[in-house]
Amino acid sequence: MAMEVLEALRSIFQTNSCVVMYPSSGTGAWEAALVNTLSPGDRVLVFETGHFSQLWAQLAQKMGFQVKCLPGSWRAGAVPGELESQLNSDKGHDIKAVLVVHNETSTGVASRIAELRRVMNRVGHPALLIVDAISSLGSMDYRHDEWEVDVTIAASQKGLMNPPGLSFNAVSRKALLANKTAKMPRSYWDWQGMLKSGDTGFFPYTPATNLIYGLQEALQMMLEEGLANIFRRHERHAKAVREAAWEWGLEIVCRVPQEYSSTVTAVFIPNGHDADHLRATILDHFDLSLGAGLGKLAGKVFRIGYLGYFNDLMLMGTLSGIEMGMRLARVPHKEGGIMAALRLLAPAGEIIAAPG
Ligand SMILES: Cc1ncc(COP(=O)(O)O)c(C=O)c1O
Repeated sequence: MAMEVLEALRSIFQTNSCVVMYPSSGTGAWEAALVNTLSPGDRVLVFETGHFSQLWAQLAQKMGFQVKCLPGSWRAGAVPGELESQLNSDKGHDIKAVLVVHNETSTGVASRIAELRRVMNRVGHPALLIVDAISSLGSMDYRHDEWEVDVTIAASQKGLMNPPGLSFNAVSRKALLANKTAKMPRSYWDWQGMLKSGDTGFFPYTPATNLIYGLQEALQMMLEEGLANIFRRHERHAKAVREAAWEWGLEIVCRVPQEYSSTVTAVFIPNGHDADHLRATILDHFDLSLGAGLGKLAGKVFRIGYLGYFNDLMLMGTLSGIEMGMRLARVPHKEGGIMAALRLLAPAGEIIAAPG
């Protein structure tokens, strides 16, 4: 079963390279990516795109790396031009890795990984590109090989539709080479023991067996639906959510249309109102749980997640809960966001009359 799952995972990462799987949350896979490729005191560059990039930078700092954090507004992704100037000025190639969160779960902003890789190739900088795809893998188009990502980090609890407790590193050939000379101490996270599991089906310590059963089923569902169909379904739902938010007269956090996330949308609540009060009202009345604003967005935004096993009716239920909640909590908004979403999901001409 382990070998089957590891093989199927490669198609989800869109890679022919190897994938290792840990019994841990996503944070463990962040740490694994760093200790397997870097040496003590190495310099790393992190784009501050939101709460999770900040947490990752803090983790790297605690581990003793020299972390240069490029500040951001949280309303746009990693800026390719900024990467270019940072790498151009690093003549001695001291930067050993560039760390980017593909889809910032805290803001609903997706960085353009392919463009960042093109910049690195154009500049000819040898740093590793390490990407967190925790809330995008298996929901939004993500191409480990084509985008020449060196380590992709993922976890079981988002697009892979399982409980938390499994995490992953997809590893490029260049990252495997870096692993040979990387001097960070490592034992639990060591790729070497884990890499053999792809061939033997056995792990160096107890795997999270029951979660792997769940993952096997999820992967089968995903391969049956087809990655391209999954991505289209998420894009369509994301579009419907944005239509609803705009119709309500609310602003969404992501400012760059090419960087809209297809798994989560963070929506600002009007000034003077508390997003957590709205979330509590919606939870109390409708048993619908929305994501909280994280870090500096606490209380200012609510987040609508629509990833994994999700269909049009579930989305309409979610949006109805929000519109009803805004009425109950007296949050100023224009009525009809749900109708805007409905028009997008079921354009009149395409409605098929019920038989009889
Ligand atoms: C983009 C991103 N990175 C990292 C994490 C941290 O993962 P975990 O909470 O599984 O350790 C999360 C969790 O939601 C996330 O969304």
